[in-house]
Amino acid sequence: MASRVRLGAISAVLACGALASAAFAQSPPLSGNAARGKVLSQTCLGCHGVTGYRNAYPNYEVPKLWGQSPDYIVAALQEYRAGERAHTTMHAQASTLSDQDIADIAAYFGGEPLRRAATPASARTPPSAAAVCVACHGADGVGIVPQYPSLAGQHPDYLVQALREYKDGERKNPVMASMSLPVTEENMWIVAEYYASLRPSLETLPRPETFLSLRR
Ligand code: HEC
Ligand code: HEC
Repeated sequence: MASRVRLGAISAVLACGALASAAFAQSPPLSGNAARGKVLSQTCLGCHGVTGYRNAYPNYEVPKLWGQSPDYIVAALQEYRAGERAHTTMHAQASTLSDQDIADIAAYFGGEPLRRAATPASARTPPSAAAVCVACHGADGVGIVPQYPSLAGQHPDYLVQALREYKDGERKNPVMASMSLPVTEENMWIVAEYYASLRPSLETLPRPETFLSLRR
C-alpha cells in the first residue's frame, strides 16, 4: 500500500516534469557561454576548486560540481538567489548573478556532464534504502533527466547535509521534501555512501592555473 502511494507520487512528479519540459519548449532556457562562465567563476574556485575544502558550521565538504548537469546547476543557483536554499554564503554568491551569468557558469562548471551508463545493469545493486531514489538519480548515480542532479562520487557528508536540509525545510524543493521525509539518519548515510562510491564520478572543479591543482 505504502509503496503504491509512493509510486503514485513519483508518476505525478514525472508528469509534472513532462509539463515543465513542455513549458521550456515554449521559452527555451538561455544557452550558456562556458568561456565567459570560466571568467565569472574565479571567486567560486576559492571553495569549489580546492580538494578537501570544507564548510565550517556545520562541517561538511563543499560539493563537487565538475560533471554535474548544467540544467541542475542553473536550478540550484536560482534557488540560492531566491532564498529557497538557506545557505548564507551561497545566497550571497548567487544574489549578484544575472540569469545569463548563471547559464554561463553552469555551462563551464558542468564540464563534460556525466552520462548514463550504456549498460545500467553493470551498476551495483543499490541498497534497499535507495530503491526509491534510483527512479530519478539512477542506479549509476547519473540523473535520468538533466533536471535531476547526478550524485555519483559526490562527498557523502555533503549528500547527508543536503538531505537534512530538504527534511528541515532549509531547502524548499517539494519533490525532495517528500522524498527525504521518511529517510532515517542511518539510511541517509547508507544511501550517501552508496552514491559516493559510484564511478564515473563528479569531480572538484579543475584549477590548472594555480598550485592548488597539485592537490587534485
Ligand atoms: C565560501 C565557499 C564558497 C564559495 C566562494 C562558493 N561556494 Fe558554492 N557552495 C558552497 C557550499 C558550502 C555549498 C553547499 C551549500 C548547501 O548546503 O546548500 C555550495 C553549493 C553550491 C552549488 C549547489 C551544488 C549542488 O550540488 O546542489 C552550486 C551550483 C554552487 N555552490 C555554485 C557556486 C558558484 C557559481 C559560486 C561563485 C559565484 C560559488 N558556488 C561560490 C561553498 C561556496
Ligand atoms: C521524483 C524524482 C526524485 C526522487 C525519487 C528522488 N529525488 Fe533526489 N532530487 C530530485 C530533484 C529534482 C532534486 C533537485 C532539488 C533541488 O532543486 O533542490 C534532487 C536533489 C537531491 C539531492 C541534492 C543533490 C545536490 O547536489 O545537492 C540529494 C542528496 C538527493 N536528491 C537524494 C535523494 C535520495 C536519497 C532519494 C531517495 C530517498 C531521492 N533523492 C529521491 C529528484 C528526486
